[in-house]
Amino acid sequence: MKEVFNFNAGPAVLPPEVMRQAQAEFVDYQGCGYGIIEESHRAAQFEEIIQAAEANLRQLMGIPEDYEVLFLQGGASLQFAMIPMNIALPGHKIGFCNTGEWSSKALKEARILGAEIEMLYDGSADGFSRIDGVERWPVPQNLAYVHVCANNTIYGTQFKQFPETGQVPLVCDMSSDIMSRQVDVSKFGLIFAGAQKNIGPAGLTLVIIRKDLLQRVPESLPTMLRYTTHSKSKSLFNTPPTFAIYMLRLISDWLINLGGIKAMQEINENKAALLYNYIDGSDYYRGTADKACRSNMNVCFRLPSEELEKKFIKSATEAGLIGLKGHRAVGGCRASIYNALSQKGVERLVEFMRRFANGN
Ligand SMILES: Cc1ncc(COP(=O)(O)O)c(C=O)c1O
Repeated sequence: MKEVFNFNAGPAVLPPEVMRQAQAEFVDYQGCGYGIIEESHRAAQFEEIIQAAEANLRQLMGIPEDYEVLFLQGGASLQFAMIPMNIALPGHKIGFCNTGEWSSKALKEARILGAEIEMLYDGSADGFSRIDGVERWPVPQNLAYVHVCANNTIYGTQFKQFPETGQVPLVCDMSSDIMSRQVDVSKFGLIFAGAQKNIGPAGLTLVIIRKDLLQRVPESLPTMLRYTTHSKSKSLFNTPPTFAIYMLRLISDWLINLGGIKAMQEINENKAALLYNYIDGSDYYRGTADKACRSNMNVCFRLPSEELEKKFIKSATEAGLIGLKGHRAVGGCRASIYNALSQKGVERLVEFMRRFANGN
C-alpha cells in the first residue's frame, strides 16, 4: 500500500490503527462469524458498542451527568434547523456570531424558521479572516440562546476563547475541532458536530445537550426532529448509523490510549506550529487567517499566483500529499491537520512546500 498523507477537510483521515482493526473485524466481529455492519441495532453486541462509545465520550470530554449524548443523522446541517426548532423560545431572539460559511448557513435556517436574530458579531466585512474582541461582545440576557461555530473549516479561523453568555445557553458547532482540544462542556448548552472530520466517518452527527433544554422541545415537532425522541430512546428510536457509531467507539478508544484530549491537544498544537512557523518565515506562502485566531485544524494559505497554486496541488498529489485544495468558496490551499493526521505528515508537507518554493 503506498504511503499517502491525507489533508482532506472531511471526510478525512482516520487513525491507521483504527482502520486496520475495522478491516479485521469487518467480516468477523470478535469471532461471531459475521460483521458488525450486518448486526441488528437491537443486538447485545451493538448495545455494548453504543454504550461504550457514549462512556468514552463522557470520559474524554468530561461530559457532566446533566447532559445527554445523542447519536443522530442528517449531518451538522440538519442541526442548523433542529436547534431553533427545539430550543428557540417564542418572543425571544436568537443571538448569532457570524464567523464564516457554516454560521451563515445556520443563520439562514433560523431565519427560514421565522426566528428573530440578534447579530452579536459579523465577520463578513473582514472576509471572515478574524474573530475579534470576543470578550467585548454584548450578550443580552433575554436571548433564547447564542450560536457560534468553534472552528471555521473554510476560512481557517478558530475561537481561542468562547464568549461569556451568562444565563443564555451557548450553542456551538464543533464539527471541525471536536475532541482536538480541551473544552469545558459545562460552559455550553448544546454542542453538535458532524463526525466526519475528527471522530469518525460521515453519516453520524453528535449532539450533546444540557438536559434542562429538553423541556423547551415543542410537542408540535415531527417525532424524528425532536431531541426528546432520541434522548428517551437512547438514540435507538429508529435504526442509527451503526457502523459509524462502531468507528466512533474505536476512534475514542484510540484517543484514550493516546492519553486523552490533553495529549491530543499538545500533539495538534505542535503540528500546527510546525506548519505556521514555516509559512510565517516564508515570503512565498502567505497564511490567510489573522494570527491571533488561526485554526489548529485547517491551515489556509496562498501561493504567489493561482497558476502556481494549481501546480502546487497537482505536484503535492503526485508526491502523496492529497486534499490540499482550498474550499471552492475561497480558493487557495488548505491543509486540514485533524487528530489522525500524523506529525510525520506535517513534516512531509513542510519539506514538500520548501522544495516547491525553491523550484518554482
Ligand atoms: C464547521 C462545520 N459545520 C457544519 C458543516 C456541515 O456538516 P455536514 O456536512 O455534516 O452537514 C461542516 C462541513 O464541513 C463544517 O465544517
